[in-house]
Amino acid sequence: MRYFLLALMLATVAAVGVAGFRGTLSRKPPIEVFPDMDRQAKLRPQVPNAFFPDGRSSQLPPSGTVARSRKMVAGNESVYPFEEGPLTTGRITGTTNFIELNPFPVNVSFIARGQDRYQITCSPCHGAQGDGKGSISKYGFATIANLHDKRISTQPDGELFNTVGHGKNTMSGYASNVSIDDRWAIVAYLRALQLSRVAVIEDVPADKRALLKK
Ligand code: HEC
Repeated sequence: MRYFLLALMLATVAAVGVAGFRGTLSRKPPIEVFPDMDRQAKLRPQVPNAFFPDGRSSQLPPSGTVARSRKMVAGNESVYPFEEGPLTTGRITGTTNFIELNPFPVNVSFIARGQDRYQITCSPCHGAQGDGKGSISKYGFATIANLHDKRISTQPDGELFNTVGHGKNTMSGYASNVSIDDRWAIVAYLRALQLSRVAVIEDVPADKRALLKK
């Protein structure tokens, strides 16, 4: 033990002697442990470069390149998924307020797409009916929200959209699993699901009421 302490002391003195105290100013360049990481052979973007025939470091994509993301169009808004706008954030531009209505035109096929995505992504927890009694709830996950709660059914569409993408409290976000237009489709389906719980017979067109009574 005594020799170990002695060796440690010597090693410390040697290390401080060679490397200096931390934060000490020095005119000498620092020791580069991996010089090839400090000084990489690389092209900086947007600067002249003799390597390519057109003399630029940034090259245009080869013809036939397929774009990684496509522009989404809803009403008069058209944005890429990485751009900020009500369609991608669910918020009114320049504020933190949520937009009231789904920016996508809501029709039967849009709601059907939402139903499909809801049943895959949300129903294990929230249940096919949205009452929070999905199969996961049988395994001790007890705090799953009932999506028919007045507090949730009165939220603006933008807030639901935000919850799907970014989660809320103990629910994690599903932005990586569900694309932006699918998230809005889920919101549209969620609205239909919520309405189904509070609808009255007068909401049903007169000629379809007989079908319900069967
Ligand atoms: C892994 C389980 C799980 C999945 C999957 C899940 N949720 Fe949730 N969700 C929860 C839990 C738990 C809460 C309650 C969070 C809290 O308040 O602690 C919640 C809360 C919510 C709320 C209420 C948020 C609020 O304002 O309080 C909404 C709306 C919601 N979920 C929608 C969805 C939708 C739509 C999907 C499908 C894209 C989904 N959830 C997928 C577990 C889940």
